[in-house]
Amino acid sequence: MELKNDLLLRTAKGEKTERPPVWLMRQAGRILPQYRALRGKLSGFKELVETPHLAAEVTIQPIDELDVDAAIIFSDILVIPEVMGLEYQMVEKKGPWFPKTIQSLDDVKSLRSGAEAAAELEYVYEALKITKRELNGRVPLIGFSGAPWTLLSYMIEGSGSKTFSKAKKFLYTQPEAAHLLLEKLTETIIIYLKTKIASGADLVQIFDSWAGILSPEQYKEFSLPYIQKICDAIDEAPITVFAKGAWFALSDMKDLSCNVIGLDWNTTPEFAREKLGQRVIQGNLDPCVLYSDFKNIQNKTHLMIQNFGGHHIVNLGHGVYPDTPLDGVKCFVDTVKSL
Ligand code: CP3
Repeated sequence: MELKNDLLLRTAKGEKTERPPVWLMRQAGRILPQYRALRGKLSGFKELVETPHLAAEVTIQPIDELDVDAAIIFSDILVIPEVMGLEYQMVEKKGPWFPKTIQSLDDVKSLRSGAEAAAELEYVYEALKITKRELNGRVPLIGFSGAPWTLLSYMIEGSGSKTFSKAKKFLYTQPEAAHLLLEKLTETIIIYLKTKIASGADLVQIFDSWAGILSPEQYKEFSLPYIQKICDAIDEAPITVFAKGAWFALSDMKDLSCNVIGLDWNTTPEFAREKLGQRVIQGNLDPCVLYSDFKNIQNKTHLMIQNFGGHHIVNLGHGVYPDTPLDGVKCFVDTVKSL
């Protein structure tokens, strides 16, 4: 199927384009009334994730409503820990929770991994196939995975955390078990992403959401090498690496064999360009700008685009917050589309 809008893919590959593409992390979700209406009829978040035609419907909602330049498959990064052996629950208003966690080398050894684990995610592959068919070439479809370190942190902590001190303690006190777990995650993620691409994903993004929790030394030992391994193993589609809070590692990230580097809002375009040169960058407007008036949203968006100076995929510095006014989101997208 020929894509009618391939701005994202051309920009990701380093080509000059007529304007930068725009999409938002977490664009499929509670900012949209259609999402809230559908979600209200279901038993919970997991039913939506695990029912392919519903996941496809929700993936396409922001394309219809916001007219963004990419769709991102509706799912969650926590499906990988689940098929490796740690079931998760999504607790209303609280977030993810794992009844069972990893505490020892034996726990790590007992986990499933690789092809055996990735094969359990048939509902994700099916959702991609349906979405691809229903998108009918309107925009590219993005697939994603959590980075090994970010997934490890949930598997140790059992939930979100302010400090992730249990996960960091695990790295310091049980490095052998940590490396084995990161290895098993990496192996699983590679097959998972390859199968997502084979099922219709045109680009894949790796979310290292808790990169900024680690010290630079720990990041170099426990996160980057595994992301590098994933990037090296995948040549079927372009890859974006979004490492939230990893400004301290940008010089090292410059050498990653990925196509796009995602940035959070703690980095200025000038600093990022100094570290990354002319690499393609995705980001990085502060999501809270979208609570302000249209004039401010337009100004801040224009300024960001100008300061990145091309080779840029417009996005926020993290996921859009669920209570963001839809008009603010639309103003952001329209500002880019009218360039
Ligand atoms: O539009 C998109 O970006 C695609 C969908 C998507 C979701 N989760 C849907 C979701 C993506 C890409 C993710 C990835 C994800 N999940 C990450 C990495 C990105 C990031 O934000 O840093 C992380 C850390 C998770 C884990 C997770 N899932 C948490 C911490 C939470 C609770 C927070 C919240 O917003 O409630 C979730 C739940 C979740 N994942 C929701 C959505 C739409 C909210 C569930 C609901 O509808 O109630």
